[in-house]
Amino acid sequence: MAGKKNILPLKKEFPAISDKISKKAIVYLDSACTALKMKSAANEQRDFLLKLGACAGNRSVHLLSREVETEFYSARKAIAGFIGAKSPEEIVFTSGTTEGANLVAMSFPFKKGDEVILSPLEHNSVFLPFYRLSKRGKIKLKIIPLKDFKPDFSAYKKMLTFKTALVCVTRASNIFGGAVDIKKFISAAHKKKAKVFIDAAQYIPTHKENVGDLNADMLAFSGHKMGAPFGTGVLYVKKNLFGFLKPSKLGGGTVKKIIRENGLYKVDFFKSNAAYEAGIQNYSGAVALKKSFELLHKIGYKNIRAHIRKIVEYARLKLSSFKEIKIMGNGKELSEGSIISFVCENPRFSVIDFNIFLQEYSSEYFVAVRCGRHCADLAVLNSGVKSTVRLSFFIYSSKRDIDIFCDALGAYLKSL
Ligand SMILES: Cc1ncc(COP(=O)(O)O)c(C=O)c1O
Repeated sequence: MAGKKNILPLKKEFPAISDKISKKAIVYLDSACTALKMKSAANEQRDFLLKLGACAGNRSVHLLSREVETEFYSARKAIAGFIGAKSPEEIVFTSGTTEGANLVAMSFPFKKGDEVILSPLEHNSVFLPFYRLSKRGKIKLKIIPLKDFKPDFSAYKKMLTFKTALVCVTRASNIFGGAVDIKKFISAAHKKKAKVFIDAAQYIPTHKENVGDLNADMLAFSGHKMGAPFGTGVLYVKKNLFGFLKPSKLGGGTVKKIIRENGLYKVDFFKSNAAYEAGIQNYSGAVALKKSFELLHKIGYKNIRAHIRKIVEYARLKLSSFKEIKIMGNGKELSEGSIISFVCENPRFSVIDFNIFLQEYSSEYFVAVRCGRHCADLAVLNSGVKSTVRLSFFIYSSKRDIDIFCDALGAYLKSL
């Protein structure tokens, strides 16, 4: 880490950094897709699975099951604290941001005439559930215009009306980088009595988030982008909304009681987070997610941001020295995020060829980046950019990674 040294033995925590694939060392610049996994989180999950392989909740109440529930609840409580939620009961465990966004779209009690406003930076995991609802005539979908790689706030204010039921804004774009100043989007929505859902998938891994300060109604993120195992994530929901939303994924653990009266069945659903966690949960994933949060807190978000800021700025300056490269986003503001994305204006540049070149050009290294539309089709279509090369960073990223990438880029451009 920049600044403080030896805060964490990063190489020990991320064994994949030192691994070789096909005898080549890895230069990992694809953390926005998924971060390399933390050893302590993986160990936590493995130990949990081997020791505590029973269910939680109030299904079985034997001692092993009670122990699982204690650990699961402790993860819920810790994560609530880490993100500034008022209570553990505001945490819904999910498999990731995609599930969180789908739960919101499918559980929101839309009524005739309701409108949903989406930022143009929304990932397809947010756009598609609402697109489908609009195609089925359940909502009217409006997309905020893009201005300087951000949702245009003035245009947004004009789009808001008392018909707006829900606004979805991403906290940090997964294609253009930087971060969105979402507080003003949230308070403008609340003035029109609309609810707000925040996609924090690209923000939470390297920023301290506080849902209370934001006054967000719902917020989702994925554990695998912060070193926790795949299939982990959280949907934060403001407590008073549990009575308002109508759970869409039903199953075991979501009901208070089911009765039969005069030959008819009646179901009394929970009006709490329990109604959103149907079926057996990923208990081991939840405790591992808690572990990765603990590690990030131990390093300290000030240190993390200082490190990532330096990396983004270094990448921006190095990439700016290539005449044909056009960086997406607004200069220094990019260092508020953990991504740098670019296009190449040389017509002979092919992102597909370049990606292959990154795997083949060196006998010592291969470079992992993401090329394409990044499941951010709204941003692609609203910006006119066809596809980008994206470098994305996490706590293990280094200036050396960028040097290696830029050498490869220089060699590729020369070969055109
Ligand atoms: C901004 C954003 N939102 C949502 C998602 C979907 O996350 P997941 O695949 O973990 O559900 C991603 C994944 O890349 C993302 O970058």
